Amino acid sequence: MAPVVGLQRSESLYAEGLYAKVRHAIPAIEWPVYAQDIDAIMTLKRTRNAVILAHNYQTPEIFHCVADLVGDSLALAREAMKVDADVIVLAGVHFMAETAKLLNPDKTVLIPDLGAGCSLAESIRPEDVRLLRQAYPGVPVVTYVNTSAAVKAESDICCTSGNARAVIESLGVEQVIMLPDEYLARNVAADTGVKVIAWSGHCEVHELFTAAEVRELREDYPGVVILAHPECPPEVVAEADFAGSTAAMSAYVAHNRPSRVVLLTECSMSDNVAIQYPELEFVRPCNLCPHMKKITLRNIRRALETMRNEVEIDPAVAAPARRAVERMLAVK
Ligand code: 13P
Ligand code: SF4
Repeated sequence: MAPVVGLQRSESLYAEGLYAKVRHAIPAIEWPVYAQDIDAIMTLKRTRNAVILAHNYQTPEIFHCVADLVGDSLALAREAMKVDADVIVLAGVHFMAETAKLLNPDKTVLIPDLGAGCSLAESIRPEDVRLLRQAYPGVPVVTYVNTSAAVKAESDICCTSGNARAVIESLGVEQVIMLPDEYLARNVAADTGVKVIAWSGHCEVHELFTAAEVRELREDYPGVVILAHPECPPEVVAEADFAGSTAAMSAYVAHNRPSRVVLLTECSMSDNVAIQYPELEFVRPCNLCPHMKKITLRNIRRALETMRNEVEIDPAVAAPARRAVERMLAVK
């Protein structure tokens, strides 16, 4: 691994030109501190031959200032396969870094905080999947990517919120076991007509939104267009104008340019999209994901400086988990 060199003068000015882009989301007083970390990270990326993949829920100083690739879980998995670098820094949560490692076993995958988890991934263990298989013999197991590699290893195929419908339909069966997000499973069942055996996991961010809140938003902000993530309870999705993955919500805004819009999802998502479309009004009744928020510019910088917090997966788990992810990626 190449040694880290100090900040070069030519790179120390990189952050200067960025502030105009993010100034509505980042207070001026905070910017000089971020700017130092941004310049250091740009140098480290070059020195380490590293790329930063960032999820849509990362804060604007990460998403807009240091990320090489941004997107939803599906895009990050697809992009991870194409990465031409020695090191991948995953600015997101642990299951995303594991997915990147599954698809890049020979690369170094770092996550700036190993404790960046997910309430869905925490809700289910491999032995739970084995028990479900016994209870429903022959029924295929579809596992949301928001799970550990050990749980993926017990499943037939993975899905994300962006391709859940296509994955389920690709199986051509009447019934599936879909784990661990109960609400995503119920939302997909309503969309596809396929009978779904669900688990009782929930996203601690999206489960907080209510149908009453959606009705209140419509009353308070006439004409508002309401987009919801499919991890929201089905009664919320039923009252929204559109439901889709974080990338699908961004695409909806890009194509339809609603003059007044709400994204019922994690807070940074609206911040990031609002930066791209300053002419649109974003109403922001969001909930923070404490796991996504464990990733900061400072710990991205530290991860690249120290090369610590490497993601490792037991090879006996990695092989079947990779099969389930690759099977998902083969679904168009
Ligand atoms: P997306 O795949 O839609 O980006 O969702 C990931 C996630 O963690 C949502 O809470
Ligand atoms: Fe997990 Fe929900 Fe956070 Fe996404 S927003 S990482 S599903 S807890």
